[in-house]
Amino acid sequence: MDKRPIGIFDSGLGGLSAVKAVIKYLPNEDIVYFGDTQRVPYGSRSAKTIEAYAREDIAFLEQYDCKLIMAACGTVSSVAVDATSNVKEHFIGVVKPAAAAAAKATENGRIGVMATWATINSGAYTKEIKSIAPDARIFGVSCPVLVTLVENNWIDTDDSISREIIKRYLEPMLKENVDTIILGCTHFPHLAPIIQDVAGNGVTLIDNGFEAVMEAKQFLEENGLSNEKNHRGTYQFYISDKTQNFSMIANTLLGMDISDKVIFRELTEKL
Ligand code: DGL
Repeated sequence: MDKRPIGIFDSGLGGLSAVKAVIKYLPNEDIVYFGDTQRVPYGSRSAKTIEAYAREDIAFLEQYDCKLIMAACGTVSSVAVDATSNVKEHFIGVVKPAAAAAAKATENGRIGVMATWATINSGAYTKEIKSIAPDARIFGVSCPVLVTLVENNWIDTDDSISREIIKRYLEPMLKENVDTIILGCTHFPHLAPIIQDVAGNGVTLIDNGFEAVMEAKQFLEENGLSNEKNHRGTYQFYISDKTQNFSMIANTLLGMDISDKVIFRELTEKL
């Protein structure tokens, strides 16, 4: 048994798709979340910058004595190889578990990947899928505008503009007859209902945040590191800039009011 919290970070609101899965599937676990609202988006930046940001995000969470640290960020998991391979705590990224789930789910071996520019450019998902299913065909598309849609709460299923944008990104991979699509950026599961509608029911969507949480669950259980069964998880959400929207949108995304659990902390303040 281990009472220490799970540390989860992302550039902004995206990582809340992983938080949602922890609340549902690991209800006894405490969470310390860090959203780098000061520097979002990450996905259009260079590898060098993403490495530097990831290093600071990890150092931030390391102040809170976490039993594991999760990069609930496809971009960091794909690009910040140095920063993420030197984490002192047990580390989980979103690329490996999502690639494994997609390789398992596909029937025709044709997999789409929707992610940020930096993630697609890194080829990380392709490499990971190919290591499990060498014959798979992967069709990646970078969808930076979807990050902005989520950060601005344009996620309603009846939002015709968001739907048109998603259609435009999806059309090329749907033409390639993919039967599985990895939502390779943690912002995108928040748009899953529209993506599923556009892609059709024959396409399986893989939520990378959810898959990472399933890996975390297995790790905690196998190593006797779960929290006490009668403990109800507590949550803290740190943000690096006081953005107007974080609490309001987080409340919608998580379906619970977390406004009194959001704490502004400048990255440089305590490091
Ligand atoms: N949610 C992140 C990801 O999974 C980052 C999106 C961004 O900041 O560009 O890639």
